[in-house]
Amino acid sequence: MSEDTNRVLTLSASERENVKKTLWEAARQKALSCRQCPLSETRSKVVFGDGDPDSKLMFIGEGPGADEDAEGMPFVGRAGKLLTQILTAAGISRQDVYITNIVKCRPPENRVPSPQETVLCNKHLQTQIMLINPALIVLLGNTPTRWIMQTNEGITKLRGRWYDWRGIRVMPMFHPSYLLRNASSKEGSPKHLTWIDIQEVKRAWDEVRGK
Ligand code: URA
Ligand code: URA
Repeated sequence: MSEDTNRVLTLSASERENVKKTLWEAARQKALSCRQCPLSETRSKVVFGDGDPDSKLMFIGEGPGADEDAEGMPFVGRAGKLLTQILTAAGISRQDVYITNIVKCRPPENRVPSPQETVLCNKHLQTQIMLINPALIVLLGNTPTRWIMQTNEGITKLRGRWYDWRGIRVMPMFHPSYLLRNASSKEGSPKHLTWIDIQEVKRAWDEVRGK
C-alpha cells in the first residue's frame, strides 16, 4: 500500500468529514451547472436532492416534476406531499434521510427520462451514493428500480423485499404518484402494501442505526 493511501486511511474523523463536505459541495456545483443533456435546455432549476447527506437511508425517485423544477427541491408537489406523509406516519422525518432522483432536471411533460438522459445524469447520482454511503436505498417506482437493479421486472413483483446492490440493501416501493392514482387502501391495495413496506424500511433503518 502506498504512503498516500495509508495517509487517507488514517485521516481523523473530522478530517474525513471535511473532505466529504468539500467533495459534496463540488458535486453539487457540478450538477447545478450541468449542460450535458437536452433536459438542461428546458429546466428551470436543477434538483440535486434534499435531506441529510450523512443518512444511512436514501430514497431515489424518477425525476423532477413541475413543482420540483420551479423550487429546485425533490418531492415537493402532490406526490411529494404524499411521500412526506407516508414517511412521517412511519416515524421517518424527511430531514433525517436523503431524497433524490435518477435525473436531476425535469423531463418535459413529466415523461420517463430517456436512456441517454439517464446515462448522462448517472455520474451525479453515483457520486451522491458514493459520498452518502447509505446502508439502505428505497427505489420509488419502476424507473429507478429498472435502472439500479438492471431488470425489466415490474414493481408489483419486486416491491417490499430487500435486494443486494453492491453491498447496499435496496428495496423497490410503489411511486407516490401511483398511489395518488390508486386511492383505495383496502387490504392488498398499493397503498396498503406501501404502508407495510415503509414500516419494514423503518425497522431496517432503526437496526442499522442501532436504535
Ligand atoms: N416524482 C419524482 O419521481 N420525483 C420528484 O422529485 C417528484 C415527483
Ligand atoms: N409504475 C411506476 O413507475 N411506479 C409504480 O409504482 C407503479 C407503476
